[in-house]
Amino acid sequence: MSLKNFILGLAATFGTAWLAVVIVPFFTMRAMDPIVVVDEVAGTEEVFIPKRTGRVTDGSAVYAANGCYLCHTQVVRPTYAGNDMFRPDWGGIPDDEERGDTRRETNPFDFIGEHFAHVGVLRFGPDLSNVGNRVIHNYARGGDPEMWLYEFLYNPRALPERRKSRCPSHRFLFDQKPLRGQRSRLALNVGDENLEIIPSREARALVSYLLSLRKDQPVPDDLDFAPVARSDDG
Ligand code: HEC
Repeated sequence: MSLKNFILGLAATFGTAWLAVVIVPFFTMRAMDPIVVVDEVAGTEEVFIPKRTGRVTDGSAVYAANGCYLCHTQVVRPTYAGNDMFRPDWGGIPDDEERGDTRRETNPFDFIGEHFAHVGVLRFGPDLSNVGNRVIHNYARGGDPEMWLYEFLYNPRALPERRKSRCPSHRFLFDQKPLRGQRSRLALNVGDENLEIIPSREARALVSYLLSLRKDQPVPDDLDFAPVARSDDG
């Protein structure tokens, strides 16, 4: 091989690679516009982790002790594992006055700070991930959400639309006392005139916990697999 052929060979070998790796990409990509990240599309950057205070933590223990997790889940499943998003209000509120459609699937951050994640064993009753939302927005409309829950726990079959409810009654979480003087603010509107039925410490903690169940805070897009969020992206 002559020196001339050797030099030409070298130039061709390295020249082709240089053309393909440096020159061609340079000319094809230098005119590309940078990707603009618009806040409304990217949503939020951070995950909001609600504070779980003493009473809510106590209520979570009452929830566990009474086996609520045996019949109630707290996971709005990702759509690939079964669609939960079509169920009314399981994943959030579809028509929240301030925030619009807040529905989304559950993600692991939703359980941060919980002593025990009540994912659930069986789904005999409805998912409770957003039960706090449902009670406030739908069931107790205008009324007191706390009282709605006490009355439900005392007798789940009291309301006409829940005559056939299969949620067990939790009367043992209430104390029955002879009425002396004025009725307690939390006394249930049931029973004898001379008696008052008031929620025990456990019932009050449990209801605080149930009302705290609102897993619909906005999450960054990477975590948001809600069909609504996806269709917004166009
Ligand atoms: C034997 C299974 C079972 C157990 C245990 C159980 N539930 Fe239920 N629960 C149900 C069923 C079934 C429903 C649906 C019927 C209805 O809407 O009333 C329900 C409904 C509810 C609802 C109304 C939810 C909604 O959005 O309509 C709440 C709140 C609730 N249960 C709380 C509890 C709590 C708190 C405990 C534990 C102290 C508990 N449940 C234990 C079966 C159960």
